[in-house]
Amino acid sequence: MSIHFLLLYSCFIQFVWGQLPPYTGQFGVGTIDIEVPINPRNISNYTFEETGEPVFLLETVLFSTYYPIDSDIESSHPQRPWIPRPLDLVAEGLSVYVNSSNSSISTDFLTTAIQSLAGSINISAIVDAPILDSAAPFPVLVFSHGDVALRAWYSQFCGDLASHGFVVAAVEHRDGSAAATQVRRSDGTTKNVTYLLPDTISSVTNVTDITLAQRDFRQAEVVEVIKVLQNITSGEGTAIRSANTRDEGETLDGWNGRLDLSTLLVGGHSFGAASALQTLSEAPNGTVPAQGAILLDPGKQSGPLNTDVHIPILMADSEEWSSIPFNFYGREHFDVLKDIAEDAPDETGGGWFMTLLGTAHTTITDPSFLGGQFSAFFANPEFNATLNSSDALAQYIRVSTEFFHLVKNGTKDGVLAAEVTHPNFNEANETAVDDTDQNITRYWEIHVAPDSSQSETNDTEPEDSPNDTDNEDEEGDAMRHVVQYVNILVMSLICIFINL
Ligand SMILES: *[C@@H]1O[C@H](CO)[C@@H](O)[C@H](O)[C@H]1NC(C)=O
Ligand SMILES: *[C@@H]1O[C@H](CO)[C@@H](O)[C@H](O)[C@H]1NC(C)=O
Ligand SMILES: *[C@@H]1O[C@H](CO)[C@@H](O)[C@H](O)[C@H]1NC(C)=O
Ligand SMILES: *[C@@H]1O[C@H](CO)[C@@H](O)[C@H](O)[C@H]1NC(C)=O
Ligand SMILES: *[C@@H]1O[C@H](CO)[C@@H](O)[C@H](O)[C@H]1NC(C)=O
Ligand SMILES: *[C@@H]1O[C@H](CO)[C@@H](O)[C@H](O)[C@H]1NC(C)=O
Ligand SMILES: *[C@@H]1O[C@H](CO)[C@@H](O)[C@H](O)[C@H]1NC(C)=O
Ligand SMILES: *[C@@H]1O[C@H](CO)[C@@H](O)[C@H](O)[C@H]1NC(C)=O
Ligand SMILES: *[C@@H]1O[C@H](CO)[C@@H](O)[C@H](O)[C@H]1NC(C)=O
Ligand SMILES: *[C@@H]1O[C@H](CO)[C@@H](O)[C@H](O)[C@H]1NC(C)=O
Ligand SMILES: *[C@@H]1O[C@H](CO)[C@@H](O)[C@H](O)[C@H]1NC(C)=O
Ligand SMILES: *[C@@H]1O[C@H](CO)[C@@H](O)[C@H](O)[C@H]1NC(C)=O
Repeated sequence: MSIHFLLLYSCFIQFVWGQLPPYTGQFGVGTIDIEVPINPRNISNYTFEETGEPVFLLETVLFSTYYPIDSDIESSHPQRPWIPRPLDLVAEGLSVYVNSSNSSISTDFLTTAIQSLAGSINISAIVDAPILDSAAPFPVLVFSHGDVALRAWYSQFCGDLASHGFVVAAVEHRDGSAAATQVRRSDGTTKNVTYLLPDTISSVTNVTDITLAQRDFRQAEVVEVIKVLQNITSGEGTAIRSANTRDEGETLDGWNGRLDLSTLLVGGHSFGAASALQTLSEAPNGTVPAQGAILLDPGKQSGPLNTDVHIPILMADSEEWSSIPFNFYGREHFDVLKDIAEDAPDETGGGWFMTLLGTAHTTITDPSFLGGQFSAFFANPEFNATLNSSDALAQYIRVSTEFFHLVKNGTKDGVLAAEVTHPNFNEANETAVDDTDQNITRYWEIHVAPDSSQSETNDTEPEDSPNDTDNEDEEGDAMRHVVQYVNILVMSLICIFINL
């Protein structure tokens, strides 16, 4: 490869890939990475075929906090890179995933590619700035990433929520669903966890069992993260700082009483939404003291979805997710979500299910802010995303903010105050659409809202898995999973190399 080629290549990359945009709320945004050891335990007994090591050994929890800060504060630490280091570990994880489907791409190639494409992108939040000293403590969201993702790849959504006055803990899961992640123990040793392929595990006959083990692992992590947050807000920030193996958190001692854990939401995207939904069978009185959940595009290939929900839920699908039919254990995925929202008990706040028009499954993730026009080439060919990422983010933030208010003070504003406009996707109730503010209907189709579901208490639709003949299909499909952020990263590189 000649120097000229590399120069040309990097100019092109600079042109195509920008930096992440600033957050839009009234507050500045701080971020602290926290990784603390917990009482180690095996969440299940699976072991790797090759090494005999346990697959689901939980030793530490890792999460990034995003929180409001004074907007005048300037950074006194280096910004956090958007692709966590070591880069070659992330490349290795991605190549496990990419090579499992069809192509054959070397880790070296991916390392170079990621280095030049995304290696200089930073998260916009300010590392370790003091949390805002406001009168009221901040409501909290514990957020789970999707499959083959990283906690950092939702920094726009999480950071923007923080700029609107909330604290977000974005968990990085060590269940093998992250592209790659490094466990850092308190004795200084590390363990690399790369993307998990079920066929590397001893005696696996049923891939869904692995998915369910991953969800159990994720739930255990979320529970531990909530415990750490409880410690921080009850004045043990300094202890958490000393236990933190990520060497951040010098301002955590100022977090005493700053978190409103009586307004605690759990949530996630895709696999993360499916795993958050699972934790709700325990909420609010079990081990998960959550008061509500924000579920974005609950997974289509994340195993059967939990339907046992006792707290208010906000489920928002992308248009891609709602519009493309998907046979989910013998039923339409859309209908399964609709039932879950309708069944959320109205006495405790109820359930919403809606579609944000013009969005793809990955619009909520950071790569949709980075790839610009270029990313459209690699989106699902069956679907055109027409809403730009910042307008989409504004809507996601809007409904999330309204949902926080609902959970906090029981008020329904804006989109949450609207009635059902489209009982099914693209199936309008014209009366209701006419009644609803156009600023809502131009973005949202509302399929379920609490008031409207009361008349439908007793439908006798089949439970989740009468038609399990589809399971094999589903397992065969696991790797077909359209993960466009990885496609965007990888395919754009391949195209550039081939075309130039
Ligand atoms: C986890 O399981 C492995 C065997 O798979 C065992 O060696 C190890 O002691 C277990 N760890 C804990 C903390 O239970
Ligand atoms: C692992 O296996 C042991 C012994 O068979 C059993 O007691 C334990 O409950 C298993 N642990 C899990 C998490 O399944
Ligand atoms: C983890 O991955 C990094 C980067 O590939 C490597 O340098 C390190 O040695 C690995 N650590 C372990 C414990 O395998
Ligand atoms: C796979 O495991 C899941 C969950 O345990 C179960 O519901 C399903 O029936 C199993 N599928 C097959 C083909 O055994
Ligand atoms: C949280 O505080 C409790 C009580 O002091 C302590 O036992 C526990 O280890 C702490 N958790 C962490 C993660 O430091
Ligand atoms: C949860 O606990 C609260 C008070 O502690 C109680 O009022 C409520 O009924 C409980 N809910 C469930 C579902 O058990
Ligand atoms: C997407 O847009 C292109 C160009 O506007 C059009 O040709 C194509 O049919 C559209 N695809 C879908 C699924 O709407
Ligand atoms: C509800 O509570 C939030 C604090 O989380 C506050 O900002 C908001 O103004 C309140 N809304 C109403 C209508 O009282
Ligand atoms: C359509 O919406 C109106 C309220 O605007 C409601 O009264 C009516 O029942 C809805 N129709 C259907 C079929 O849901
Ligand atoms: C609707 O949006 C327009 C422009 O974005 C704004 O000027 C107007 O105030 C909004 N109307 C309502 C009722 O929010
Ligand atoms: C729902 O249906 C069951 C049996 O089909 C019946 O016993 C029950 O009374 C019904 N509940 C309501 C609220 O209609
Ligand atoms: C299973 O699916 C098939 C085709 O979608 C349908 O004809 C059949 O009625 C379903 N069986 C059950 C028990 O739902």
